[in-house]
Amino acid sequence: MSQKREPIGVIGTGYVGLVSAAGFAELGSEVWCVDIDAEKVERLRRGEVPIYEPGLEELLARNAARMHFSTDIADALEHSRLLFVAVGTPPTYSGDADLSAVHAVAGAIPASKDHALVMKSTVPCGTGASLLRVFGEQGKDALGYVSCPEFLKEGSAVDDFLHPDRVVVGDDGGWAGEAVVELYAPLQAPLVRTDVASAEMVKLASNAFLATKISFINEIANVCEETGADVVEVARGMGLDDRIGPKFLQAGIGFGGSCFPKDVDALKQLAGNSGYHFQLLTAVIEVNELQKRRVIGKLHKHLGSLAGKRVALLGLAFKPNTDDMREASSLVLSARLQADGASVIAYDPVAEEQARALVSGITFADSPLAAVQQVDATVLVTEWSEFLELDWSDVAAAMSGSVVVDGRNALDPDAIRAAGLIYEGIGRR
Ligand SMILES: NC(=O)c1ccc[n+]([C@@H]2O[C@H](COP(=O)([O-])OP(=O)(O)OC[C@H]3O[C@@H](n4cnc5c(N)ncnc54)[C@H](O)[C@@H]3O)[C@@H](O)[C@H]2O)c1
Repeated sequence: MSQKREPIGVIGTGYVGLVSAAGFAELGSEVWCVDIDAEKVERLRRGEVPIYEPGLEELLARNAARMHFSTDIADALEHSRLLFVAVGTPPTYSGDADLSAVHAVAGAIPASKDHALVMKSTVPCGTGASLLRVFGEQGKDALGYVSCPEFLKEGSAVDDFLHPDRVVVGDDGGWAGEAVVELYAPLQAPLVRTDVASAEMVKLASNAFLATKISFINEIANVCEETGADVVEVARGMGLDDRIGPKFLQAGIGFGGSCFPKDVDALKQLAGNSGYHFQLLTAVIEVNELQKRRVIGKLHKHLGSLAGKRVALLGLAFKPNTDDMREASSLVLSARLQADGASVIAYDPVAEEQARALVSGITFADSPLAAVQQVDATVLVTEWSEFLELDWSDVAAAMSGSVVVDGRNALDPDAIRAAGLIYEGIGRR
């Protein structure tokens, strides 16, 4: 099988690059992975997996013979025609996407009619056109270019790669688009074959829409708190309408992660730079910022001043089943709590190491029950399954206070109240 499949290069071995590389190896391709992080490459060569992602370790182990790791892009160029680009595109201070890593990769590709860049990194609409313009100026017109945005979700990335809702391939003609379509063919996913700019916009618009849905239900939750409705009931009733659907209608303390905040901001800035004020996204971002802070108001309601109080945070990662701490709500929450004079004790099953690099002044516990010892309040920040299975009478016995804020509306209010604790959800009765 491996002889028949196109070998590929994957530039950038982070969440997207490594999962995609392992996924394509599983489908039978030889995969030549490149990263500028020499330590990461060394670890990958030793068979270590630098990120936490369910199923990834097994997938990499199963396909180790087809996967090659290097810091030198020449290795990928020598063995493959298609170079999947999966480098980071973090936000700049202006909110635009930082494309310096993308440009570094594009600059390292020589003039060659036998190679093509396949853009998996999320980039502003217009990036492909501007790269092609630069290739033209550099005499590299023969290079192929395909936009193939990635939709996998951290926490279920392996499954998402192998069972995508759709595959989007945008190109302006040439051999490379067809070759990418061929690579994905065994997955039998609906294919959106389009031009480069539209493919780029599908990705940005999809993330912006999902973020909008979250901020929308969070505002409904806030209105529920004022009017006596329960947002969980409201979302259930709304979600059964198949024009709306039940997903992304869980009210909580806001979205985080490496994608939604930066992609929403990047689309807003892209619109602004093109002369259009994207009002809706301005509100989506502002609602999300305020939502993280509503927990503080809830704690004040029950505890008064937070000075000298002890607060436990259950979960730090931006969502369950990942160790990714980028833009996690816990970062804002822990900083706000400390600014108000509270002591913060936190527990996360996998993200502690990443969190230690980003937050200071908080105490890390090695179990949920250790975190809640003698605290005045407990806040569920990330809905890891182990928190959903807690015995709340044990928690009540360990806490000195009695306030539980369910920042994800994931806990059972009856079980918490039955343990003699005060339950506060987001938009719940
Ligand atoms: N993480 C997600 O859930 C997700 C989902 C869909 C799309 N995306 C997009 O995919 C892209 C990658 O995201 P990620 O989360 O995998 O990022 P990441 O930060 O986890 O990984 C990026 C990797 O690229 C490497 N790199 C940087 N510059 C390089 C260069 N010049 N040459 C080779 N390697 C280089 C880094 O060392 C790092 O290992 C971003 O544009 C992101 O928006 C991410």
